[in-house]
Amino acid sequence: MSSKPVALITGASRGIGRAVAVALSEAGYRPALAARSEEGLKVSAGLCTGAEAGTGALIFPIDLTREGAPEQLTGMVLEAAGRLDLLVNNAGAVLSRSFEETGGDDWDRLMALNARAPFLLTRAALPALRRAPEAAVVNIGSVVSFKGYEMQAAYTASKHALAGWTKVLAREVSAEGIRVHLIAPGGVATDLVRDVRPDIDESGLISPEEIARAVVFLVKNRGNAVIDVLEIHRAGKIPFA
Ligand SMILES: NC(=O)c1ccc[n+]([C@@H]2O[C@H](COP(=O)([O-])OP(=O)(O)OC[C@H]3O[C@@H](n4cnc5c(N)ncnc54)[C@H](OP(=O)(O)O)[C@@H]3O)[C@@H](O)[C@H]2O)c1
Repeated sequence: MSSKPVALITGASRGIGRAVAVALSEAGYRPALAARSEEGLKVSAGLCTGAEAGTGALIFPIDLTREGAPEQLTGMVLEAAGRLDLLVNNAGAVLSRSFEETGGDDWDRLMALNARAPFLLTRAALPALRRAPEAAVVNIGSVVSFKGYEMQAAYTASKHALAGWTKVLAREVSAEGIRVHLIAPGGVATDLVRDVRPDIDESGLISPEEIARAVVFLVKNRGNAVIDVLEIHRAGKIPFA
């Protein structure tokens, strides 16, 4: 069994997930990294310098939308590391399409990855999280977990769904000491934004490392104050808009 607390981070082959993995390894966690791209996961694992030899980063190439994959991933992490202390549900995808042109298949695809897979993964991880001394779940929502932006109907619905079950889970497990948080960021400089909003000037985007620092802050904050939601917007946007 790993002596370090183990953090499972989904969508860790690039972008925010990679930055979170690096930051958590520096914060003393053994990272378990999941995404489809084995190559990307290996690069991320190599950057996790806080994970020492013998307790190094683990990688799990997996498509989380495949039936049974979330449960299988939990089992593999526990078999390899013997414990699970923190789950960061970060894997996600976006779609830029008008409401009218959004099809049922688009809806199903985004719901499956952004809402259903993290739900199933969290459910499967709960028994292990209950055994952890300081367990936490951090869900990466979005500004559209609470707002609605044009051309993002399916994405917005999936991020609202994620926020919805996050609130319920937080209430159901709080007495057991499992902390559940939602981070709701605006534009972050990753492939996801580059694909759908190539018009945005990258210099004004939030960096993945800034989101990673927020994750570390939340999970290290084990006092009497619990932060449910962190809404993070670009400095160039109007506050509280
Ligand atoms: N960038 C932003 O502006 C922004 C703002 C708010 C919220 N977010 C949220 O932040 C999270 C991370 O996004 P990002 O910006 O870092 O995007 P990204 O660079 O596109 O990364 C997405 C990650 O999800 C993984 N992924 C995609 N489909 C998957 C699948 N079927 N199974 C397993 N893993 C899968 C990808 O890896 P593989 O392709 O290797 O599978 C990748 O590691 C998402 O939930 C996103 O909605 C992003």
